[in-house]
Amino acid sequence: MSHPTHSDAAGDRPRAFDATSKLVAGIIGLLAVVAGLVIGLNNPFLNRAASAEGSRIDTLFSLTLGMATAVFVIVQGFLLYGIVRFSRQPDDESDGLPIRGHTRLEVFWTAVPAIVIVIVGILSYQVLAEIERPAEDALVVEVKAFQYAWQFYYPEHDVTATELHIPLDRQVLLRMRSNDVIHSFWVPEFRIKKDVMPDRVTETYITGTKLGAYPIVCTELCGAGHAIMRSQVIVQSDANFRAWIASQKTEAEAAAARPADPLAAGRRIFKNYACDACHVLTDARAMGVIGPNLDGIGARAGNIVPGQSAEEYLRLAIVKPNDYIAEGYPANLMPQDYGLRMSEQELAELVNYLLEMK
Ligand code: CUA
Repeated sequence: MSHPTHSDAAGDRPRAFDATSKLVAGIIGLLAVVAGLVIGLNNPFLNRAASAEGSRIDTLFSLTLGMATAVFVIVQGFLLYGIVRFSRQPDDESDGLPIRGHTRLEVFWTAVPAIVIVIVGILSYQVLAEIERPAEDALVVEVKAFQYAWQFYYPEHDVTATELHIPLDRQVLLRMRSNDVIHSFWVPEFRIKKDVMPDRVTETYITGTKLGAYPIVCTELCGAGHAIMRSQVIVQSDANFRAWIASQKTEAEAAAARPADPLAAGRRIFKNYACDACHVLTDARAMGVIGPNLDGIGARAGNIVPGQSAEEYLRLAIVKPNDYIAEGYPANLMPQDYGLRMSEQELAELVNYLLEMK
């Protein structure tokens, strides 16, 4: 049996490594590197980072994206070039060229990715080490996550808030813990994402480098209200931050200094349990729109379930919310465990407070 021989016509076919091919490959390679750099440096898919950590991560990401774009364009370029230039002609029944491999090329395309991966690995480690290096003057904030709100406690100042305020250019150490299920703390502009768990404290560092307000998003499915579990972080000048801390203290002290005000305790409980995240209540300056509006609830509560007193209704609607779903609102949105989380006294004070909302 004889081997098929190449016809003269097949011998005229373009060869893979002729001068034209090398030139075209060179141009494609050059374009790929330029395109990679342009896309990497002006990444159109990302907003500008607003934290020191985010800028470092972006630099690394841009570099990786640039290299990946170059590799992508080179590989796809050769593929397209091969398809167009070396496609089988009509009536050409001959075999392809008997190419058995190319040692130099294979060493090249094994060595280059290996070197690139090692470089990216070293750079990644450096960035990680840098963004997790604690500063001596870091501001500690204890973050508590619960279904479906965030709470921020400043142990240095004994202040609790539902928004995270941080001073510009100062490292902040977030010590995070969940009250119930797994949540995840994410500030897109800071490029920081970290799970918040009930059985351990997780830590992350942020250093705001641009004044402004940025969204805090829960990015771990944590229940029916997951999508609304948002807050914001406000990066402000040191002076404004101090003023804000002072105003929070004054508010808390004023509330504490008015023990005679029967509403103060209830208002505090309303905020501490993040009721304000989901309900409107003008007295507590609450503007949540997830659950029913509670303005005037004290006047209405007695007429909702026949035979049930207003006090009884409010207590049960907090402890067993699924049995008292207001029309137009879904079940399971309000956490079912307030009865376990609140002390009997807190519950009584909260109910009394809501009864006064007439
Ligand atoms: Cu908390 Cu999703």
